[in-house]
Amino acid sequence: MKNFKEQMEARVREIQERIQEYLPREEGFQKTLLEAVNYSMLAGGKKLRPLLMKETYEMFGGQEQAVWPFMAALEMIHTHSLIHDDLPAMDNDEYRRGKKTTHAVYGEAMAILAGDALLNLAYETAAQAFALCAHPDRAARALAILAEKTGVRGMIGGQSVDVENEGKPLSLPQITFIYELKTGALIQAAMMIGAALAGASEEETEKLSGIALNVGMAFQIQDDILDITGSREVLGKPVKSDEKNHKYTYASVKGLEESAKDVERYSKEAVRLLEELPCRNEFLQELILTLIHRNA
Ligand code: IPE
Ligand code: IPE
Ligand code: MG
Ligand code: MG
Ligand code: MG
Repeated sequence: MKNFKEQMEARVREIQERIQEYLPREEGFQKTLLEAVNYSMLAGGKKLRPLLMKETYEMFGGQEQAVWPFMAALEMIHTHSLIHDDLPAMDNDEYRRGKKTTHAVYGEAMAILAGDALLNLAYETAAQAFALCAHPDRAARALAILAEKTGVRGMIGGQSVDVENEGKPLSLPQITFIYELKTGALIQAAMMIGAALAGASEEETEKLSGIALNVGMAFQIQDDILDITGSREVLGKPVKSDEKNHKYTYASVKGLEESAKDVERYSKEAVRLLEELPCRNEFLQELILTLIHRNA
């Protein structure tokens, strides 16, 4: 695709700007908490989940503003997951998005609260979509997806199995279960919400769920690979975090070469399934393929 990189940069920039509009003002007696919230949200990041949501929404013909509160909400939930993931009680990492982690700057208690605050703010933000949507039933479906994919049957459930098994040898099916939940679920939320808000059928939304799981697996396996082969400067977060925490990852169990092949296999399967849909978005397909070789 011509100018893919420029298109990508322009879209991410727009997302960054629009998401900022949903961030709270740093005022009142809880000013420090609000600063911590904004610090983590404004630190950077690829904005992949809102981008996937918007591209899926447009693929199904969505044109309303209602997608924006959901895009912001999902990025808030993702950022909440990162703040908590970096805490000493979890992965104990000091850098994120090229900056000191939230707990390193604001202390652990404030980082826990900033994560909590973002999780709550996400639902407050998503609820704004009802006023922007000609079909409130679609916003209701989207909200249900957001909650499910974030919770015990989604990201938080996956993180719990991940931390519970630190240092324990895991089989590939166990690792796959963890990745589908801890990482796949928020990518499912992105694509399924995009589809649901645009009025896709239940069947199509289900199909998106499978497509997104493939994207999620590829994304997390590449994250494992980069944890071994990447650099902190490029990634914006520490490398060898998994080794430090004695984690059995897909990359450590299957090896770098086979894992890289699987990143490609999962990504191409996602694109193959996308092509079975009655609608197309070439940019979305290109995005998924580009992620195979991402280095950050
Ligand atoms: C990091 O996600 C957490 C994983 C699921 C691997 P991203 O790599 O999308 O993080 P940001 O948003 O770009 O910082
Ligand atoms: C985390 O996986 C996935 C989340 C739900 C945050 P990792 O622990 O591998 O993510 P990074 O490497 O810290 O971004
Ligand atoms: Mg982790
Ligand atoms: Mg981590
Ligand atoms: Mg990682």
